[in-house]
Amino acid sequence: TYVVTENCIKCKFQDCVSVCPVDCFYEGENMLVIHPDECIDCGVCEPECPADAIKPDTEPGLEEWLELNAKYADQWPNITDQGEPPADAESWNGVEGKRAQLSE
Ligand code: SF4
Ligand code: F3S
Repeated sequence: TYVVTENCIKCKFQDCVSVCPVDCFYEGENMLVIHPDECIDCGVCEPECPADAIKPDTEPGLEEWLELNAKYADQWPNITDQGEPPADAESWNGVEGKRAQLSE
């Protein structure tokens, strides 16, 4: 499966949503997650994210993000249409320590 990681927080560009063939993104207030059981590992979303926030779960060190994607994919609503990113999205791109800002 692919995993949405920290740099999505407060960027939430949503380019990923428009390319996913199985609509497996779920929407929180300031981040999206991927449903690990629905993702077919096609990889098309990874290069589409302007924040480089989407990673394959084969990358080391993603355990926390895998858990968060699985947890919130079961709680947050499915998103199938790309919406507007936050007005200040670009200013959050690459900011460190955004984990603490996740609206859970
Ligand atoms: Fe969707 Fe493919 Fe990305 Fe998985 S890897 S979330 S199926 S676009
Ligand atoms: Fe987030 Fe990137 Fe999608 S910032 S909403 S994972 S395009």
